[in-house]
Amino acid sequence: MAILSLVLTAIFWFSIASGKSTPEPPGPERIEIIELPLPPVVGSNATGACTVEVNPHKTGCIGREFIDFQSGDFTPDGDHVVVNLEFIGAPASPDPANIYTGEQLILVKTDGTLFANGDPWKCLTCGVPESNAQSLDPQKDYPHVARSGKKALWGHNIIDCGDFLLASDDCTPANTFIYPIFWPSTLDGSGPGGVPREMRLHPDDVHMGWSSFTPDGGQNTFFGRLEFNPNPLTGAPLAPRYDLVDVNLLENPFGPSILDLNEKGELELHYDAIGVGELRGFSGSGDEILYIGPTHEANNHDIFAVHVTTGKVRRLTSHPEYADPVSFSHDNKWFVVMDTRGSNRQMWMSGMRGIPPLIDIVTVAAAASTRNNHHRRFFQPILIDSEGDRGSYFGQQVNAHGDGSDGSPNDPNWNGRADPAFSYDGTQIVYWQALVTAPACGGVNPLPCPESTAQGGRTYRVMLARLKDREPTVPETIFDIPDFLPWATPFPPGSEFPVQSGLPQGTYTLRGKVSGTANATLIADSTSVIRTVSVEYDDYSDDGEHIINGFESVTGTPDPTNPWLSNLNWTSDLKGTGAVTATKKTGPDGFQLSIDVMLNIFNANGTLTTTIDGAVYEQPANGT
Ligand SMILES: *[C@@H]1O[C@H](CO)[C@@H](O)[C@H](O)[C@H]1NC(C)=O
Ligand SMILES: *[C@@H]1O[C@H](CO)[C@@H](O)[C@H](O)[C@H]1NC(C)=O
Ligand SMILES: *[C@@H]1O[C@H](CO)[C@@H](O)[C@H](O)[C@H]1NC(C)=O
Ligand SMILES: *[C@@H]1O[C@H](CO)[C@@H](O)[C@H](O)[C@H]1NC(C)=O
Repeated sequence: MAILSLVLTAIFWFSIASGKSTPEPPGPERIEIIELPLPPVVGSNATGACTVEVNPHKTGCIGREFIDFQSGDFTPDGDHVVVNLEFIGAPASPDPANIYTGEQLILVKTDGTLFANGDPWKCLTCGVPESNAQSLDPQKDYPHVARSGKKALWGHNIIDCGDFLLASDDCTPANTFIYPIFWPSTLDGSGPGGVPREMRLHPDDVHMGWSSFTPDGGQNTFFGRLEFNPNPLTGAPLAPRYDLVDVNLLENPFGPSILDLNEKGELELHYDAIGVGELRGFSGSGDEILYIGPTHEANNHDIFAVHVTTGKVRRLTSHPEYADPVSFSHDNKWFVVMDTRGSNRQMWMSGMRGIPPLIDIVTVAAAASTRNNHHRRFFQPILIDSEGDRGSYFGQQVNAHGDGSDGSPNDPNWNGRADPAFSYDGTQIVYWQALVTAPACGGVNPLPCPESTAQGGRTYRVMLARLKDREPTVPETIFDIPDFLPWATPFPPGSEFPVQSGLPQGTYTLRGKVSGTANATLIADSTSVIRTVSVEYDDYSDDGEHIINGFESVTGTPDPTNPWLSNLNWTSDLKGTGAVTATKKTGPDGFQLSIDVMLNIFNANGTLTTTIDGAVYEQPANGT
């Protein structure tokens, strides 16, 4: 008894001394996977091909291959998920089934029941009168149901059913309104500040976050507030719309970058630097912005969260594989991320841990591009607690269930897509997958094409995961987010982007946080852009567990006609000791990689191989 209480006292004092201690990682849990129903498949998109034989209810048909397909998140009751899809084969007007045509947003039942129309789905946007939906924005991706359940984000549009829940029978086309979102921000007073994409609604249903591309291959991220403008007099369209106002550029001009020069002229890594590279959404309560940020280890892309007011950064994933679409549970205790972990897709370039992100100055786009091979993706949904990867804990694959056969939940030919989502009570996860199709298989590709086992040979499917061991939880209180984030940069109309000054070329030392040095030579081209990074490692270690020695050098040659293309010439001869014995080596003629971040088709000469405690990871074959 005395010994036990001594131990408890020691634990108590340890907890006090270490402040908020990181909780023990959770154990695995039971997850059941089912496929959700979708409208029936029709083999032709010809007018009238969607006959009563194919769909007796005359509520639309969809195609075998997906066009603009994307599932989104749940209605607050957890009984429906929102899905963007393309209806094809509708009959000609005046047949009332004519409204089931083109890109539309539907709700799908998750509980096996039916809507009043007798279908397990209901179209939210079909047949909405033109006067209720003027000048819609063509972007209709990343569908998201507002917390009220009465509105939805549909790409760059807002669907509004007034006082009615979207899922209720009272929400009809006649009382549905759809408004485009307009961003009056401009660089020179006439054009938008880059091309906005992938908009995400904050859980307060009022604020938004988004990324936008600039024509030169750059990306910026923004945060703003939606303001209804019933009668706009400027901008376009001059139709009832939502304006994005109080816009912030998600950059801290006074904060450090991941890699800076210090007053001694040495390189310094700042793992606490805010770098919202590509915005991925918000935490369940909206107190953090989720993003893909600058790598903390060479070629290892991860998900980060930054607190909206304090600017505190958390690294949520650290597994060497590539992480991308991510979504939090509404109680803020979990997240689910689409990740290539388990597929070994990226291990040949990122498997060796503890290498600081120096070559990433030139390899970052290529390392992101090799995550998939065009239509063959390697993402599967991974469930991780909100503290993220740590120690030997790397979460749990949601759809590990199955025997890997055609169509089973864990069939690797069914590839995870964006975004997964949690139900409000935390007991369900929805995600969607696409089947690998030509030219990512078949023909000259060495990998055969699988047969679809989905209804009508469909090559896309929406999956529901039921977390069998969980009790329903209550959503966290929504964080009262200010219009202007203290660490961000206000970006009113007419703003220009701050000038980015990269590191000057030179030879610099980076001291390991625990031991050793990495001496890096950076060589710039005539426009001062760094094109070569060569690094000599000498007992370098940031964590005392991974000690790096050897040499690595990468040169990137830009393509003047295509800012999205990376051409790399790579030499590696690295050795890791400590927690694991690792090597990262190129073959005798080095390794030359050419890859387009928009196409993701692997094309290389030479070899780059990583070994970890005897396990060998080789690059993929060209075209796979
Ligand atoms: C119908 O399908 C054909 C063949 O796949 C395609 O070329 C055409 O663009 C499609 N038309 C419509 C309206 O989707
Ligand atoms: C790295 O640079 C430091 C400082 O110039 C120097 O003392 C050290 O010898 C260099 N290490 C290697 C391996 O070149
Ligand atoms: C790659 O770099 C190596 C070492 O600098 C050089 O010898 C080789 O010619 C380069 N290869 C290509 C294809 O540029
Ligand atoms: C690989 O080598 C061939 C033959 O020299 C060349 O045509 C091709 O461009 C190279 N590919 C890459 C990715 O460097």
